[in-house]
Amino acid sequence: ETVEWDPEQAGKGEYDHFMLKEINEQPTSLAQAIEGRIDPVNGRIALSDFEPGTFDDVDSVQFVACGTSYHAALYGSLALNQAGVHSTALLANEYSVSAPPVDENTLVIAVTQSGETADTLSALKQAAAEGARTLTVTNVVGSTAARAADDTLFIRAGPEIGVAATKTFSSQAVMLTLLGQRIADDVQGEPPADLETLLPELESMPSTIDQLLEYSNAASIAEQYSESRSYFFIGRGLGFPVALEGALKFKEITYEHAEGFASGELKHGPLALVTPETPVFAIFTGQEDEKTLKNAEEAQTRGAPVVAVCPDGHPAVEVADEHLTIPDTDSDLAGLVANVQLQLVSYYAADLLGRPIDKPRNLAKSVTVE
Ligand code: G6P
Repeated sequence: ETVEWDPEQAGKGEYDHFMLKEINEQPTSLAQAIEGRIDPVNGRIALSDFEPGTFDDVDSVQFVACGTSYHAALYGSLALNQAGVHSTALLANEYSVSAPPVDENTLVIAVTQSGETADTLSALKQAAAEGARTLTVTNVVGSTAARAADDTLFIRAGPEIGVAATKTFSSQAVMLTLLGQRIADDVQGEPPADLETLLPELESMPSTIDQLLEYSNAASIAEQYSESRSYFFIGRGLGFPVALEGALKFKEITYEHAEGFASGELKHGPLALVTPETPVFAIFTGQEDEKTLKNAEEAQTRGAPVVAVCPDGHPAVEVADEHLTIPDTDSDLAGLVANVQLQLVSYYAADLLGRPIDKPRNLAKSVTVE
């Protein structure tokens, strides 16, 4: 007697797709990312990967990345600006034509899951040639980007098989949050003001996401709106990169049209596209939520159903047509928790449409040409 053995199927365990497996692995991958990197006794970011004072001389930071990693980079960059350090996130594929000037006090951080993306490698090389300090944040030990930079920080997410990045995005964004706090501490000579409230929330991220995975209603939201024409995602502050990522995930695996906007930008053009057939997913992170709610209502007035992604009891719940609930957490992390709900919505929508979720047409896990 023989037993049919499909190694790929075996790798998926109880899940139908690697993507769903990897979404569900996030409590573990995040625990691995932060393990040993937070020092709760001294209330600081430990990051023993770097010598004390490594970033003392940094006066500005440029992030370079592509795709989902660019959204994590934007997240990290906005968080660093909020911590008082000058920073920008740049698309690596635009860097050769429009890089801002660098000098030895500029830290250029390449964010790349695979460590092999040609566009990102070439931006990293250019920055180094022009005299910047370089650092790579990656998942792959021994990758080209890990070897090319002055320093490297590993996100320890474990292998990701699904072409659409999920667990590596959350690990990148959490690592960039940690790194940003450490850079700000070195540059300013003291820990950022809100680190004390952030640390316990960072430590409980794995259990926060675990809770969310238990009760997510993303499958029913996906079903309810599966006949729509376009899907819009809006967010402000740290919710903005999450809106971009929510839309990217959605288009990658459902093949439906989706776009992410800064909440306040909706009224400057995109509102012309809004109809009852364009659900708007509004992400609330606790940063000027009242403005985001107003922006969502502007879409609702034009007939668009609004899905609020926010904790229970949030004022948006009353206004919105539907609610994807997230546990209450620090505003520096709420967007990442919201993103898990959006990953699930994309997954279930793609599943309903019968798409080849783990291997979308025309896309590759890692793009090694410019
Ligand atoms: C490809 C993948 C994306 C990924 C991007 C950057 O386009 O399909 O999912 O975000 O490359 O990859 P990297 O390995 O540099 O993070």
